[in-house]
Amino acid sequence: MRLLPGSLSGDRSSPPSWIRVAPGRVGLLLAPLLALVALALLPASPAAGPAGASTQLVEPVRAEQGMVVSDHWLASKVGRDVLGGGGNAVDAAIATGMALAVTHPVAGNIGGGGFMVIRFPDGSTTALDFREKAPLAAHPRMWLDEDGEYSYEIHHDSHRAVGVPGTVAGFDKAHRLYGELPWERLVYPAVRLAEEGFELSDDLAASLGRLVERTPYPATVEAFSRDGVPYEGGEMLTQPDLARTLDRIMLNRSDGFYRGETARLLVEEMERGDGLITAADLELYQARERTPVLGTYRGHEIISMPPPSSGGIAMVEMLNILEGFDLASMGHNTAPYIHHLAEAMRRAYRDRARYVADQDFADVPRHRLTSKDYAAELRSTIDPDRATPSSPSDLQTTYESPQTTHYSVVDGDGLAVSVTYTLEQGYGSEIVVPGAGFLLNNEMGDFNAAPGLTNERGLIGTEPNLARPEQRMLSSMTPSIVARDGRLVAVVGTPGGRTIINTVMQVILNVVDWEMNIQQAVNAPRLHHQWLPDRIRIEAGGASEATVEQLRAMGHTVEMGGRQGSANSIMIDPQSGERLGAPDPRSSDAGARGH
Ligand code: GLY
Repeated sequence: MRLLPGSLSGDRSSPPSWIRVAPGRVGLLLAPLLALVALALLPASPAAGPAGASTQLVEPVRAEQGMVVSDHWLASKVGRDVLGGGGNAVDAAIATGMALAVTHPVAGNIGGGGFMVIRFPDGSTTALDFREKAPLAAHPRMWLDEDGEYSYEIHHDSHRAVGVPGTVAGFDKAHRLYGELPWERLVYPAVRLAEEGFELSDDLAASLGRLVERTPYPATVEAFSRDGVPYEGGEMLTQPDLARTLDRIMLNRSDGFYRGETARLLVEEMERGDGLITAADLELYQARERTPVLGTYRGHEIISMPPPSSGGIAMVEMLNILEGFDLASMGHNTAPYIHHLAEAMRRAYRDRARYVADQDFADVPRHRLTSKDYAAELRSTIDPDRATPSSPSDLQTTYESPQTTHYSVVDGDGLAVSVTYTLEQGYGSEIVVPGAGFLLNNEMGDFNAAPGLTNERGLIGTEPNLARPEQRMLSSMTPSIVARDGRLVAVVGTPGGRTIINTVMQVILNVVDWEMNIQQAVNAPRLHHQWLPDRIRIEAGGASEATVEQLRAMGHTVEMGGRQGSANSIMIDPQSGERLGAPDPRSSDAGARGH
């Protein structure tokens, strides 16, 4: 039985509905107890398909050598088999990502983009950026209609919302740089899964049913239904067009996607739908290797993603602020704790909106934002008893979809890989490329709306993140790795749009400040504040009514309910060195597989 909704809804226009909690009678001292009850109620590893997964409540899955944790247990199994067959964690990450493109179509992809953060056994680190790019014909006003009015539909729900995909180039680059097994060995399991099919869970079948009911695209209906009839749980989903595309990628690496038949089919679909991506855009796309954002938190090293993600910078900024407070003395998810987290979040998300964008196009003050001195300045502005209102004249922020996916991999040598990738909204643009069988992203929606277009409806028009040819859109994805004294501690990440940064930070706080095991750290209810709108959202069970009342008395607006992220994580047991895998119970198909 699942107590929280799965992550597969993929509903396009449905940011989670947050339910306001009425002030009540539950005492402050009960808050930590309620949080523990909520922890105990969450299954550690959800129904994970025929092969099953851990059924323990709060214990992670243990393995001696390697571990893969992802949003679909079959993809985790593919990655684990690569590790077992002599591959390293980068090989396993590529194979897992390819398999998720088949088994987790809501966010797994070859038509989207993402980030990979790597820590090598010697402690060195790197990051791969395969974020989508704006096509050459993009321009900052491209989401204004013929009357000059901003159009949400063009920005998020059209062929113009599709960015030049990066995933295949990213996996190809990761393999050339750091892989060990032959490329074909890593793509082949995905080809087979697409060709032979896999059994749909009830949740995925229902999610696909909603997709085929609402989508206007015939190729999408064809790919994800049985001649227009929605699938039911237990039926096999085969994807023959996707299998042929993956086969071309298996044989020709990224040329199998960016050139030849796949590219031709993609460009034809763009021409049919008035999209902007051309053959030249596809040929130009390149993944980039970047220097990770590095920080420290209470003696731990934090390794995370740099721009075009805002994740690493914002998370290190928040951790630096919080390091100056004695969080452990406050009690987990008590009013003082939530207040201090929310105040740190408010400040970091304001800086995110002001300063962070693709560093190839904007001058991002990365070192200042992640410095301890700057954090001390910000910390000194936090009143321990009062909320600092987010200024209404400050910039508004746009909605970011929670539909992304994260997976973590560690191999027997201690090589650690943290991958978050996405199509942006659930099923991306919902456009399946006819004849090629894969979904296109709608990542252009992560660019700002138009120059100067900042308004009360939540649009933002600041310069750094405007659409320009070949610019990468700002992201919140925060694939991260934690180490201490030269040893790997944990691999963490999550989907969740703008909530991603706060979710990853709270998993880290749960491990470092609260000494939870990794499954408890993942399960624990989370909260979110993003500067604007000026409110704290807390997952169901995350705070007592008395705590909420206290927060309101401090000047906070508080909303309760919903689900935040799917933080499939791994920790290393400091004594035994075992790999401890923690699939997030918020995702119904998630699973950890080790060997
Ligand atoms: N599209 C979600 C993100 O990149 O953060």
